[in-house]
Amino acid sequence: MPAGTSVLEAAHAANLPMASACGAEGICARCGVRILQGADSLPPETSGEADVKRRNRVDPELRLACRITLGGDLVVSAPFW
Ligand code: FES
Repeated sequence: MPAGTSVLEAAHAANLPMASACGAEGICARCGVRILQGADSLPPETSGEADVKRRNRVDPELRLACRITLGGDLVVSAPFW
């Protein structure tokens, strides 16, 4: 996937299941993923991402796949499933 692709877009392009109830608007937090490898290639968490996770009672360790973009190889798991 090209750099700048969101993790959610990359998962869907690869036909991998990843939850999304808000159409990637960044408000539902169902796309939360655990980063297993490659966290250093990701942009830092914004206060908006942290806010959405807090409001949706999502594990603060997860990242929102629709709000993070690829900057290198990444391995994630999707705990929603
Ligand atoms: S798809 Fe809803 S917050 Fe990511």
